[in-house]
Amino acid sequence: MLSNSDVHLVSHPLVQHKLSLMREADRSTKGFRELLNEIGMLLCYEVTRDLPLEMVDIETPLMAMKAPKIAGKKLTFAPILRAGVGFLDGMLALVPSARVAHIGLYRDPQTLQAVEYYFKAPHDLSDRTVILMDPMLATGNSASAAASLLRTRGAQDMRFVCLLAAPEGINHFQAEHPDIPIWTAAIDEKLNDHGYILPGLGDAGDRMYGTK
Ligand code: URA
Repeated sequence: MLSNSDVHLVSHPLVQHKLSLMREADRSTKGFRELLNEIGMLLCYEVTRDLPLEMVDIETPLMAMKAPKIAGKKLTFAPILRAGVGFLDGMLALVPSARVAHIGLYRDPQTLQAVEYYFKAPHDLSDRTVILMDPMLATGNSASAAASLLRTRGAQDMRFVCLLAAPEGINHFQAEHPDIPIWTAAIDEKLNDHGYILPGLGDAGDRMYGTK
């Protein structure tokens, strides 16, 4: 994994291979969804890499010992609807006790600005590490708006996970939320005039749900 302090590029061969499969235009809806779920699991592994551990007393069948268990704040997964949900099952498979905050935002096709239509989150966000997720960090409008919403509801400790990022999206997000580190599997070239990432993989939500 390459990283500077704010952007962690997850270069694991399994992630890179699966991402290439997802980019292919003829990948089926079923295949796309399964791959996003699998990459969600692998990205969850990376984004939780530095969670603190504490030594606790346990009993093996043979003797007592001190063993490491995860300590510190509980996790909340916060997918941005609808494509962010594609990561969720994979992440919950690794951290089944995590809470989930759903954030409904759509992109106005004219302005490309994020418009809120749904928000439901655990009440104790200030005590939790919140992992905000959306496969595509394109303009950065949705991710920035979602992070701001979470902040107004108390979230202080946040991380952002995506599959693909455009340089424009990273710059925008970091300008608005310099304290939130980003994990991504790739940084692509640029955005086109419609705010799509190039070379990208198309519309992640449409490809996940077969709505194109
Ligand atoms: N959202 C997508 O699903 N794809 C893009 O390329 C940009 C935003």
